[in-house]
Amino acid sequence: MSRNPRILVTGATGRLGRLLVPRLLARGAHVRALTREAGRAASLAADGAEVVVGDLGDGASLRHAFHGASHLFLLSPISPELAAEQIAAIAAAKAAGVQRIVKLSGSHWTIEPPGRSLSGDAHAHIEAALRASGIAHQVLRPNAWLQVTLARLAGELAAGDVLHAPPAFPKVAGIDARDIADVAAHALLGPEPSATDSPWVLTGARAVDHHEIARIASALSGRRIVAEPLSREALAQRAAQAESPYVAQVHAQFAALIGTGEAATVTDTVERVLGRPARTIEAFVAEALAA
Ligand SMILES: NC(=O)c1ccc[n+]([C@@H]2O[C@H](COP(=O)([O-])OP(=O)(O)OC[C@H]3O[C@@H](n4cnc5c(N)ncnc54)[C@H](OP(=O)(O)O)[C@@H]3O)[C@@H](O)[C@H]2O)c1
Repeated sequence: MSRNPRILVTGATGRLGRLLVPRLLARGAHVRALTREAGRAASLAADGAEVVVGDLGDGASLRHAFHGASHLFLLSPISPELAAEQIAAIAAAKAAGVQRIVKLSGSHWTIEPPGRSLSGDAHAHIEAALRASGIAHQVLRPNAWLQVTLARLAGELAAGDVLHAPPAFPKVAGIDARDIADVAAHALLGPEPSATDSPWVLTGARAVDHHEIARIASALSGRRIVAEPLSREALAQRAAQAESPYVAQVHAQFAALIGTGEAATVTDTVERVLGRPARTIEAFVAEALAA
């Protein structure tokens, strides 16, 4: 293993990438941030990352981006091209002599059992390509991210005392994306994964529904905050905001699986990997109240 890892981070300008890059820089790694447009990575460059322009759908740009990289963090958004593009990235990594890959995969319940989620099946396909590559790797399967499922929480708490919930009020063991970034940094810079390492299934420390989130917010604020189900119209409006019909279909599959309690399973993987507990829902709600 190279002493001075040169880590190519895909998805660097996105939700998780922006959390991961500073963590890797803080630990002394050389970080190369991949973006399709350099301007989007300006703040990462200011933090000390090398910015490389490339597109996972363009093999020639990948050869340039991977040149000299020893590690790869592999992440890209949900799209019909997810599997093809990430498998091309694994091939480019192999050609460039990359020694370790950490792949941000789908939530465990989207992947197993197969056939229930378009994006989960795509991630399973990529995981298989990774195993076949012979490159040391670690797969991360994070549960739903608090920053995504509760993206509206701060706004709703600022606007009033009502939180809007999915109709079935499912319990979700949501994970703070900062914990995923901490685990990813460890997987990239810690001990080399062994060929037998199974995917790390990452969740928050407990599963809560929106009634519990409202109780936590009430206790922290001294207000009487309640949770109400989203109306059918609001649900339809949110579905219409998806960036494509494909993504809308994927989201509908997630909602159906989460509605049956699939995302409520809790693991202790974050604590086992990091040696400290996962960030709590109470801390997340407190931040939302203070925002
Ligand atoms: N949200 C959840 O609850 C959850 C749970 C489990 C797993 N996941 C997984 O997390 C991943 C999404 O992570 P995220 O939300 O951090 O991603 P994101 O913010 O949606 O996007 C990450 C970045 O990908 C880059 N990108 C898009 N297309 C590209 C291409 N063709 N070539 C190169 N770069 C490209 C974009 O950067 P530029 O525009 O700068 O090029 C974008 O900023 C998905 O694979 C999803 O399955 C999410």
